[in-house]
Amino acid sequence: MSAAERTGCFIALEGGEGVGKSTQVCLLAEALTARGKQVVVSREPGGTPGAEAIRELLLHPPGKGWTAEAEALLFAAARADHVARLIRPTLEKGIWVVCDRFVDSSRAYQGGAGGLGDPAIRALHDFGSDGLRPDCTILLEVDEARLAERLSARDGSASDAIGGRSADYHRAVAQSFRRLAGADPQGFRIVDGMGTPFEVHERILEALEPWLAAANGGLK
Ligand SMILES: Nc1ncnc2c1ncn2[C@@H]1O[C@H](COP(=O)(O)OP(=O)(O)O)[C@@H](O)[C@H]1O
Ligand SMILES: [Mg+2]
Repeated sequence: MSAAERTGCFIALEGGEGVGKSTQVCLLAEALTARGKQVVVSREPGGTPGAEAIRELLLHPPGKGWTAEAEALLFAAARADHVARLIRPTLEKGIWVVCDRFVDSSRAYQGGAGGLGDPAIRALHDFGSDGLRPDCTILLEVDEARLAERLSARDGSASDAIGGRSADYHRAVAQSFRRLAGADPQGFRIVDGMGTPFEVHERILEALEPWLAAANGGLK
């Protein structure tokens, strides 16, 4: 399914823990709704009953935890269900999808920081989800010191199996995201996640202007 064949626009928000994805997904969905668009908000891993069940396995693994390969396969399986049962049918109805993380998280975490490499993750995504790409991936970036402040203020709850990994792992994730975005300037927009939530929101809307304009012109 090419972008021209569907009418809804698919936007993913990406970045490491605490950069503001969940906050900005809500603000973006509200802004799109206020502009008269129908919007479905979703998240990964998750978004469908099957994928949410896999989310629980990923974030709170039974036993010793997953090997890197098993973890990548579980993410790809959850995504395959999410894409087939929610994302594609929604886009085909002309509804926008705003998703908190998508395949670029697998590329940055399991492919980059986890050492499996980008070709393996892309192969799983091609098999599981026919390689579906967002129309635009917004990569939020926040400096490490500010991230630590945000995360400690967040809710005090224990981190999950992936969020709780070392600072080096999370640094490698951030570097991987930046590399992926740098290699695909068409598909990504890097947005500065510093400042107030509203300031970041305004930057995201500005970055999405081409897609908003295309939708208003009746192309999407
Ligand atoms: N622009 C911002 N400035 C200050 N704090 C923020 C900002 N955006 C989000 N937060 C707070 O930082 C924490 C992490 O944000 P969140 O949206 O949950 O990030 P993510 O979903 O990327 O992990 C939350 O406590 C949130 O309220
Ligand atoms: Mg979040």
